[in-house]
Amino acid sequence: MGARAFQTGTMNATERRARCDALPGYFKGRHVYELATSVRRFTSFVELGAFLGQSTCHLAQLLLERKRARNLAFELDVVDAWATSTRWVRDPASVSAIALHGGARNAWAAHMAATSSLGAVRSVTRAWATDAVGRFANQSVDFLYLDTEHTYEYTRAQLRAWGPAVRGWVCGDDYCRPGVRRAVEEVFGAKRVEYLGYEQFCVATTGRLPSRPLARLASPRQRADPCCETRRHC
Ligand SMILES: C[S@@+](CC[C@H](N)C(=O)[O-])C[C@H]1O[C@@H](n2cnc3c(N)ncnc32)[C@H](O)[C@@H]1O
Repeated sequence: MGARAFQTGTMNATERRARCDALPGYFKGRHVYELATSVRRFTSFVELGAFLGQSTCHLAQLLLERKRARNLAFELDVVDAWATSTRWVRDPASVSAIALHGGARNAWAAHMAATSSLGAVRSVTRAWATDAVGRFANQSVDFLYLDTEHTYEYTRAQLRAWGPAVRGWVCGDDYCRPGVRRAVEEVFGAKRVEYLGYEQFCVATTGRLPSRPLARLASPRQRADPCCETRRHC
């Protein structure tokens, strides 16, 4: 996608969603963002791992829609090192977007501008996730979404570093990767982790997750056997 701004103000929600889907990326957690943005008291949203902006675009558009429809305020902060991006580049669309814009960080910004999502973002921090946490006060984040490095060591370090900053939910992608799952369950305890399907997990650091909406999101088979869809038997 080039830098031309789409007239998203005149689009409906389906068209705005399609614009986000058209960006290069691997995002599969839209249902988690819908759930988190449906919580009225949540105002502070942080995304760790934004890559070329597909996931940020979805969160930004949901938050803008929430503001338009229900006048709910929000802050969206984005953190990405954009240093290891070549490790995530698997598809030609991402490769060409990075080349076109002179780097992944620039491509993220161009995609945000092109989808009229940039105005929803309060801050963009280019840093390692464990370093960026110092900018956030304890108990200041309602919703943290983790989609960065998938190793056990990195995931555990990030969850430990960010835990005190979160007063609401910690959610993330790639739960079915052994390192991510082990780290999430070790830091929070397996019983507190909700699996939402499509490799998405959530933990309520205070209070409780809404069990009925979550139950609808993952099938009974998936809830009994998280990640079964990645092994193609549910
Ligand atoms: C899988 S991609 C994120 C995809 C994005 N959420 C989406 O769905 O469009 C992972 C991103 O995390 C970033 N990253 C990896 N390790 C990181 C770390 N330790 N701290 C900050 N960012 C990191 C990479 O630069 C990359 O852009």
